[in-house]
Amino acid sequence: MSIVADFLVIGSGIAGLRAAIALADAGRVIVLTKADPRESNTGYAQGGIAAAIGSDDSPDLHARDTLAAGDGLCLPEAVDVLVREGPRYVRELMEWGATFDADQSGHPALGREAAHTVRRVLHVRDATGRSIGQVLWQMVSTHPRVQVYGDALALSLLTRDGRCGGATFLDREGRVDDVSATRTLIATGGAGQVYRETTNPPIATGDGIAMAFEAGARVTDLEFIQFHPTALNVAGAPRFLLSEALRGEGAWLVNQAGERFVQRYEPAGDLASRDLVARAIVREVNRTGAPVFLTLAHLDADYVRSRFPTITQACRRAGFDLATDRIPVSPAAHYVMGGIETDMCGRTSIDNLFAAGEAACTGVHGANRLASNSLLEGLVFGARAADAMKGSTVQASLTGEAGEPFLEADAAATVPSASDIRDVMWRDAGLVRSRLGLAPLVDQLSGWRAAVSKARAAAPSDRDLRRVASLVTVGLLIARAALRREESRGGHFREDFPQRDDIHWQRRIADRL
Ligand code: FAD
Ligand code: SIN
Repeated sequence: MSIVADFLVIGSGIAGLRAAIALADAGRVIVLTKADPRESNTGYAQGGIAAAIGSDDSPDLHARDTLAAGDGLCLPEAVDVLVREGPRYVRELMEWGATFDADQSGHPALGREAAHTVRRVLHVRDATGRSIGQVLWQMVSTHPRVQVYGDALALSLLTRDGRCGGATFLDREGRVDDVSATRTLIATGGAGQVYRETTNPPIATGDGIAMAFEAGARVTDLEFIQFHPTALNVAGAPRFLLSEALRGEGAWLVNQAGERFVQRYEPAGDLASRDLVARAIVREVNRTGAPVFLTLAHLDADYVRSRFPTITQACRRAGFDLATDRIPVSPAAHYVMGGIETDMCGRTSIDNLFAAGEAACTGVHGANRLASNSLLEGLVFGARAADAMKGSTVQASLTGEAGEPFLEADAAATVPSASDIRDVMWRDAGLVRSRLGLAPLVDQLSGWRAAVSKARAAAPSDRDLRRVASLVTVGLLIARAALRREESRGGHFREDFPQRDDIHWQRRIADRL
């Protein structure tokens, strides 16, 4: 079956839904989403959405903090768009029905997160993403010009003569269908599942990044993965996120002996940027041979439980009282700074193909994302991509430097499982990297990728093979980029090159087939 639409949106997180709302003014929109339409990373976002709306804040200050977190690699033009347009789109969300927590005078109560110099994070308790998602979903699901296909797994992009004309997908009955569209937006989110330890839900397998790369699009900055310092660390339990907003409200990281330790490694202490706090935890665990904990026992227990009800419940399920117990934590893969390279309007290197949200790389985050800038990016750049999709079709002019040629390897003897890939990625392309681990990792992933491609050629609509192909492709792109970048910056730390090296590496590098 072939479905015809003006616009195809793949993904129903904040970026896809915001884009679909804008596109519906101009034509028929199809949204494909691989699970329940409300399932996305967006729905799990806890801390909130950053926007310079406070009386002590300004877009310039927000830009300064974003650039500092990005460690010299943000694209200033993209940051400028984010911080200047952000407040307008957040106010629009409020007009559409988003009700952020308010202070006594009715203004949004702004939270604090790491590396923000002022309180700037709008939130709905600790379930901000779910609340924003509901507002957007309500508009999309009732719009007569938007049709949403749930349980519809996009398998590959349809391209001809360097132009994208839609995608093939597997429907919930297991049939392969096509959507033919004049413009396609990839809004498939991140790829935390590439790693054994992650805060991301199972949908986050990097499908859009892999599909775009397979179709010949440029991808950039994939060595930069953000590891969140504080995921719940209980054997057998999911790595549930313990929001940075907890530390923003005064929680402490302590070691087994109950001592605060982050300042021993980082002068900014518990609210230093995520990469620094995550590595401080690794060093403390290595020094003491014991786990580390988050404690809120010195704060008002009623306040803690009412401000963080979702986290309170998750801790209870794991046998802890968030307000009074020490909660064991460890770092986990959280966010992909890189992705499909786009210009400021979501255009990619392929005509008629656009990308927005975590799957895209606008350059806004550089080497490390400032907390709560991701929901904002999805909102602002989702809307901007939609505006460009309604306009004329020009290819993006992109700035990332071309990487080395991508050579296909000989196929390995067996197709790997998802956990094979996730284990080696965690071991060799995680928080601390070196040539010793990365070089063999690239070889192993190249062989695995070739084996998966061969298996997919025989079974192109196999759901599991699509998942494994995404994990192995994105894993390989991360590992290749991490091996190439011989310095340490932001989320990328090489123990064999521990310093930032602006002379050789203050540049972004792209990869393409
Ligand atoms: P997503 O919200 O991930 O949506 C992707 C969509 O694509 C999903 O609907 C998925 O099903 C669909 N999809 C994927 N592959 C396919 C396919 N092959 N075919 C069809 N559909 C597909 N950021 C903040 O700014 N503030 C926070 O407080 C915050 N907290 C977070 C807490 C957690 C636990 C996590 C995991 C992330 C958090 N983030 C936060 C990051 C933020 O939530 C995400 O970066 C952001 O929501 C991404 O939005 P998106 O629209 O790009 O993608
Ligand atoms: C958190 O609440 O700690 C996550 C916020 C983010 O990823 O921006």
